[in-house]
Amino acid sequence: MEAATFHEPVLLPEVLELLAVQPGQVVVDGTVGGGGHARALCERVGPGGRVIGMDRDPEAYAEAEKRLAPYRDRLVLIQDNFARLGKVLDGLSVARIDSVLLDLGTSLHQLKSAKRGFGFGQEGPLDMRMDPAEARGAKELLQELSLAELERNFRQAGERRWARPIARAMVRRREAGRPLQTTTELARLVEEVIPRRAWPREIHPATKTFLALRLLVNQEIESLEAGLRQIPDRLKPFGRVCVLTYHSLEDRVVKDFFREEARGCVCPPELPVCRCGNQPRLRILTRRPLRPRPEEIERNPRARSAKLRAAERVALEPGKGARP
Ligand SMILES: C[S@@+](CC[C@H](N)C(=O)[O-])C[C@H]1O[C@@H](n2cnc3c(N)ncnc32)[C@H](O)[C@@H]1O
Repeated sequence: MEAATFHEPVLLPEVLELLAVQPGQVVVDGTVGGGGHARALCERVGPGGRVIGMDRDPEAYAEAEKRLAPYRDRLVLIQDNFARLGKVLDGLSVARIDSVLLDLGTSLHQLKSAKRGFGFGQEGPLDMRMDPAEARGAKELLQELSLAELERNFRQAGERRWARPIARAMVRRREAGRPLQTTTELARLVEEVIPRRAWPREIHPATKTFLALRLLVNQEIESLEAGLRQIPDRLKPFGRVCVLTYHSLEDRVVKDFFREEARGCVCPPELPVCRCGNQPRLRILTRRPLRPRPEEIERNPRARSAKLRAAERVALEPGKGARP
């Protein structure tokens, strides 16, 4: 694949403005991918700063290493899941950071690489692992999951009316000794189950089924929840977090997390006074998520579903910690 098309960074100026990165700061890019956002972050922190770039995909890691070679003086690359953010920072002896970016989902490189099995566009093995060292790909999961589990996952990813018929068709195939092996077999199965008149207008009918399997194979929602939980403790006062999401399931996780952290108190509403004593740790910077402008979507159609949410760490002790 052309180096230039590995992945185009989404909402880049907006991310940079919200992260407000200053020279000398320590910044984490938890999803370095093709290195588009990371390059801009390296520029902003300057030679005296540090960018810690993580990606769980070894191909993304290798590509970022090549592309970001001019920034070796300020960049540390780690191949790992951002769900292990705390451990990675401990390993680098970094207690607190100034900001963190998570740009979720897959890169264009992953989607276009037929052998990775992420897309229905080309024939490839039903794999979908971001980290090929993980034990099970989509093909193995489709062998293991029960009818009810398959249906539940398709439903959660937004496939409503057809979740059960799709799950049933998959189970029927595997019981007949013809389990699904490739991306195009899966796409064809969904096309056959959903009558043509019920196909969505703007996306391929198998989009949600592919999404459900990808989320499951990579435990993406669980990783997101685990990564988010570690962020407030690691941000310096007034430190910032930006999260770019590409579907409603992950956007809801981010929205709920920010709201909970901005509320602080977790006492049941029927208690007349707060007993938990929890203080808000985040201040939400984006009341509504930012969306790409039409010009960006025209240039980069993959940006069309993006939503950007940002929050700021409130001072650790009320009244202390002047804004830098
Ligand atoms: C949308 S791309 C990031 C693109 C990047 N911001 C750029 O400008 O090129 C998402 C990347 O995040 C990685 N990724 C997804 N979930 C991850 C996780 N839990 N931990 C680490 N990397 C993850 C994927 O492997 C993929 O390379």
